Amino acid sequence: MLLKNTSTRFGHISILIHWLVALAVYGMFALGLWMVTLSYYDAWYHRAPELHKSIGILIFIVIVIRLIWRFISPPPKPLASYSQFTRISSKLAHFTLYIVLFGILASGYLISTADGDSISVFGWFDVPATLTEQGIQADTAGIIHLYFAWIAMVLSLLHGLAALKHHFIDRDITLKRMFGFNPDIK
Ligand code: HEM
Repeated sequence: MLLKNTSTRFGHISILIHWLVALAVYGMFALGLWMVTLSYYDAWYHRAPELHKSIGILIFIVIVIRLIWRFISPPPKPLASYSQFTRISSKLAHFTLYIVLFGILASGYLISTADGDSISVFGWFDVPATLTEQGIQADTAGIIHLYFAWIAMVLSLLHGLAALKHHFIDRDITLKRMFGFNPDIK
């Protein structure tokens, strides 16, 4: 088990967090689109948003941990075969993904707490409201939340396609090392 990243490998903590967040983000997107179609009399009308909010707060915590961990354990070096374009565009894409994720989480928090209600995370703990009664807070945050969610989907899809291109066309270890493959062992 390799906990920390090295100059050539992603450690298991970074790998676990990457795939956990990816899975959670796609799941939350589907859950969000589904829950807004529910009618008041549906059994999930209250339960689905509660789940969505609770998981959203947990994702926020995990991403903060991920950024702290990234500082303690920086990602491996880009492969020597990467072009200048790949180096710059991947940095930009990863940075934008972090920003967009924070945008989604912050706007989601502002929608949920606009009326002054705190968010109960599975009944384990409460996240209090801070900014409230800002007039159109819930509406504005709602628009940002939806747009950012779509941006995250499109960007992460392009990011995933780029990873597949590295794997199937360039035949390098970009994708394999995000699954824990050890390039030092041939
Ligand atoms: C919502 C979904 C996703 C998000 C938010 C996301 C986010 C990220 C971020 C922020 C990084 C940079 C890690 C760092 O250096 O701190 C990264 C790396 C990576 N991601 Fe994703 N990702 C997602 C989905 C995917 C998918 C679907 C694939 C593959 C099909 C993928 C493959 C990779 C690979 C291979 C790397 C390592 C790139 C490198 O070595 O520079 N990701 N991802």
